[in-house]
Amino acid sequence: MKTLQKIIVDAPSKRYAVYCGKGALRELGPVVRGIAGTAGVFVLTSPNVARRWERPVLSALRLARGAKPILFDDREAAKNLATVEKVCRELIRAGADRHSTLVAVGGGVVGDVVGFVAASYLRGVKLIHVPTTLVAQVDSAVGGKTGVNLAEGKNLVGAFYQPDAVIVDPATLKTLPEREYRSGIYEVIKYGIISDSKLFRVCERELEGILDRDPAALNVIIPRCVRAKARVTALDEREAGLRETLNFGHTFAHALESVTNYCVFRHGEAVAWGIIAATLLGIAAANLPLHDAARIIRLVRRVGPLPALPKVSAAGLLAAMRSDKKSQGGRLRFVLPTKIGTVRTGVKLPEPLVSLVWNTLVQTGRSLQ
Ligand SMILES: NC(=O)c1ccc[n+]([C@@H]2O[C@H](COP(=O)([O-])OP(=O)(O)OC[C@H]3O[C@@H](n4cnc5c(N)ncnc54)[C@H](O)[C@@H]3O)[C@@H](O)[C@H]2O)c1
Ligand SMILES: [Zn+2]
Repeated sequence: MKTLQKIIVDAPSKRYAVYCGKGALRELGPVVRGIAGTAGVFVLTSPNVARRWERPVLSALRLARGAKPILFDDREAAKNLATVEKVCRELIRAGADRHSTLVAVGGGVVGDVVGFVAASYLRGVKLIHVPTTLVAQVDSAVGGKTGVNLAEGKNLVGAFYQPDAVIVDPATLKTLPEREYRSGIYEVIKYGIISDSKLFRVCERELEGILDRDPAALNVIIPRCVRAKARVTALDEREAGLRETLNFGHTFAHALESVTNYCVFRHGEAVAWGIIAATLLGIAAANLPLHDAARIIRLVRRVGPLPALPKVSAAGLLAAMRSDKKSQGGRLRFVLPTKIGTVRTGVKLPEPLVSLVWNTLVQTGRSLQ
């Protein structure tokens, strides 16, 4: 297996490459120069990420001496229009014009904010993502969904805006806090369940190596996820159908995050509970074999402890699910596994069944802590 892979995302609105694997950061300079030339390159990141990665990124880019990144707060609470405005104003003051290129270095928050800035600043400038969390590498940096939160909810303002290139270097994960890293593993497992049974088996076999951030293991799993995301993006850029498969585990996850005010779970942890819930629903409503269900739940549990489920009634959870922007006219739609590697989308379920699964999880979930 080659260590550095070039994966093409052939989306209807743009075709671009994801450079993925050990040493990818070294490609950043040549890739940016190929796309942007030498002038008008702006690095945008957070103070937290800059502390660890400013030096390697700037030296890979070989920017003029004294070049400084534009910094902004990457806490979820700051993923809002005020931050977008602040970043745009800094770009104006720094002289960014319509031919400029933005290089977003960070996790999903940085990518979503800078992606939205790139889509709207002077009606659109070039964009290169350098994702530095596992979630961003396997999910948010590829596919073109950008946006920010409103007080009324998450990701309510945004745009589909594909980058011009993505640089995925697993080496950047070595400074990631343990909990952030494990959160990303649940998204990796999600890809295995929705479309790649071989990836699922690799996760089962290599989980200890993956948890240890073993470069060889990461070099297998990350490109497989990027390929899966690239495939879906090419076929369904604007989430009209197939892309819905990526929401596996997310109907529950978004509701869990919302009823806990985004303070209890990392997104991936909520997805882990969502995967377990969707697996139980899969047994009940999608003929998921018990053996596959057991493998899924066992693998999710092996990743590590999850925060306990909140003491919320089934009615409260269902209400949160109905207000999710992905529900259609208040009707709940689920993505359910039919076997490891395949899911069924748009499944409408009787609410008593969803309540039953929630109540079961709350009871057994507590004893699993
Ligand atoms: N656009 C999409 O398709 C998409 C998909 C999934 C998630 N998202 C969004 O992504 C966000 C979550 O992103 P995330 O999980 O990447 O977390 P994050 O961006 O919140 O980052 C988590 C923490 O890790 C820090 N960090 C980032 N890289 C680091 C590194 N290499 N070393 C040390 N610390 C580092 C950050 O400063 C932050 O404190 C959410 O807002 C979610 O809505 C978007
Ligand atoms: Zn997710």
